[in-house]
Amino acid sequence: MTISPDGIVSIKHLTSMALLSNDEVIGLIKRAQAFKHQQIKPVFKRQFFVANLFFENSTRTHKSFEVAEKKLGLEVIEFDAASSSVNKGETLYDTVLTMSAIGVDVCVIRHPDEHYYQELVDSRTIQSAIVNGGDGSGQHPSQSLLDLLTIYEAFGTFQGLKIMIAGDITHSRVAKSNMQMLKRLGAELYFTGPESWYSKSFDVYGRYVALDEMIEQVDVLMLLRVQHERHDSGASFSKETYHAQYGLTHERYKWMKDTAIIMHPAPVNRGVEISSDLVEAPRSRITAQMTNGMFMRMAILEAILNGKA
Ligand code: CP
Repeated sequence: MTISPDGIVSIKHLTSMALLSNDEVIGLIKRAQAFKHQQIKPVFKRQFFVANLFFENSTRTHKSFEVAEKKLGLEVIEFDAASSSVNKGETLYDTVLTMSAIGVDVCVIRHPDEHYYQELVDSRTIQSAIVNGGDGSGQHPSQSLLDLLTIYEAFGTFQGLKIMIAGDITHSRVAKSNMQMLKRLGAELYFTGPESWYSKSFDVYGRYVALDEMIEQVDVLMLLRVQHERHDSGASFSKETYHAQYGLTHERYKWMKDTAIIMHPAPVNRGVEISSDLVEAPRSRITAQMTNGMFMRMAILEAILNGKA
């Protein structure tokens, strides 16, 4: 990965936030802002093909990558896992090998297995760039980058911001991508939620505290979806119990600073992580995150294609 003196980022693959320097993150944020404010329109020297290979459900990531690809004038190759040769036993490796062999330049992939991408980027045969759209409970770099864009839009910096990540942290690839990067960018991190969904390994990034201890001080409250599909049976709470103990209720909303913002990667379990009518409240940036996701994915794809050029 490189960044030119004028801030243009080139990336070979985007699999984890750990691969990006702080300057590259800021470069991608500025580029996404330029797309958002219609200051740039990239022209590529040749036709590029992109395939979105989603082996786990998605609305935002899949469709915002698709819109970003179309806005950039890329050729989008349809792929539906359910009607592909995956159903005849084809492995992920062989699916991506096929995409590479037929000339697909970029594969955006979401898959339930953590680190699924490693054998793909290590392959000497596969030429397609890999963009990780989420690997199990591992990483979700494009979500992290759009979250960073949303915070940067609100505050113009990360340095010294008090950011609280709340909820199902152990199962959240969004939390893992964000905690690494936000700490490196100078934010002060706090974690909250059920202790059974917290790991001591997160202590290197921030401090575990009770929600009500910090709610009045936080600049950013980043709520996480309760990931029922990744829980063992029985390891759950009723909606009402979770909401009362760990969720953003109206009472907690009133305690927050006027300048604070609320984030959630979505999909939202309304009435669980957040009271349903706060999803579109003035301090909420949940819809802005979705909009920013499309512009950030334009910046990511452009950086990947810069890498190919
Ligand atoms: N935030 C997010 O990754 O949403 P989707 O699962 O709908 O893509």
